[in-house]
Amino acid sequence: MNDIDNLISSVSNWFHKIEVAPGVFTPGIQDSQGLLEHIKLPMNLSGMRVLDIGARDGFFSFECEKRGAAEVIALDYTSADSTGFNVAKQILGSKVKWINGNIYSLNELNLGKFDLILFLGVIYHLRHPYLAIDRIHDSLNVGGKAVVESHIIDGGFVDEKGDWINLVDLNPRLANLAVAQFYESGKLVKDKSNAWAPSIDTLNIMFKNSGFDIEYSWSYHFRGGLIATSVELESDHPRFMDSSESVVLKSPETNLVPKNI
Ligand SMILES: C[S@@+](CC[C@H](N)C(=O)[O-])C[C@H]1O[C@@H](n2cnc3c(N)ncnc32)[C@H](O)[C@@H]1O
Repeated sequence: MNDIDNLISSVSNWFHKIEVAPGVFTPGIQDSQGLLEHIKLPMNLSGMRVLDIGARDGFFSFECEKRGAAEVIALDYTSADSTGFNVAKQILGSKVKWINGNIYSLNELNLGKFDLILFLGVIYHLRHPYLAIDRIHDSLNVGGKAVVESHIIDGGFVDEKGDWINLVDLNPRLANLAVAQFYESGKLVKDKSNAWAPSIDTLNIMFKNSGFDIEYSWSYHFRGGLIATSVELESDHPRFMDSSESVVLKSPETNLVPKNI
């Protein structure tokens, strides 16, 4: 075995398939190149500051560096050494910086504003997805972009027996409604960190509701994503009311309670 093979085999749990030398790939379980094609990452990132949230082994961070980003930060709440990041970084001779931190603490990390934030394969693990989206909005320049990817339920809703059912097989109208499924802890592929999943329409609405214009959106069975541009939040945005200590209630314009309740 040569040095590169030794380095690669020093990591036991590769997730990404990274081409670290011509024709030499890390043995990740994910089809990283296939996912890269779905997310439509812009080809030219020259001069941009990029943040990759939940970077894991860093496939997407390294790709942003290759595409000319001026600075790439990989953020993850696990340590770099518990992933293949440091090994891939060493072989590639990359300058991507790893920061150990939680997305919810992004504001306190004082990393400054970014032109592009990648948020791939993370949102369905989160118990507080809107809070995470707010943190992303706060960390983007106005006009900056979020590239988002998630497990989605359009390709499969888990029924009471644990079987997958296509949403449209349950009812074709569900394909156009903003629905989500919450997983009992540990029930989805026995992974306690799988908290919930949106439909692709729901994912789009959550970003629209949080100060983003949706530029592009895609779905493919159980995975989907979007590219969203950050816009300025209006002063009466519901987010500010939600986090306020003191709110003056207006009289309700509509009574949503059915008459027979
Ligand atoms: C399924 S992996 C996705 C890796 C990569 N982004 C991709 O799409 O291939 C999820 C990653 O998000 C990280 N993660 C999960 N929750 C997080 C949180 N609250 N803050 C920061 N990182 C988180 C995990 O440690 C893991 O590396």
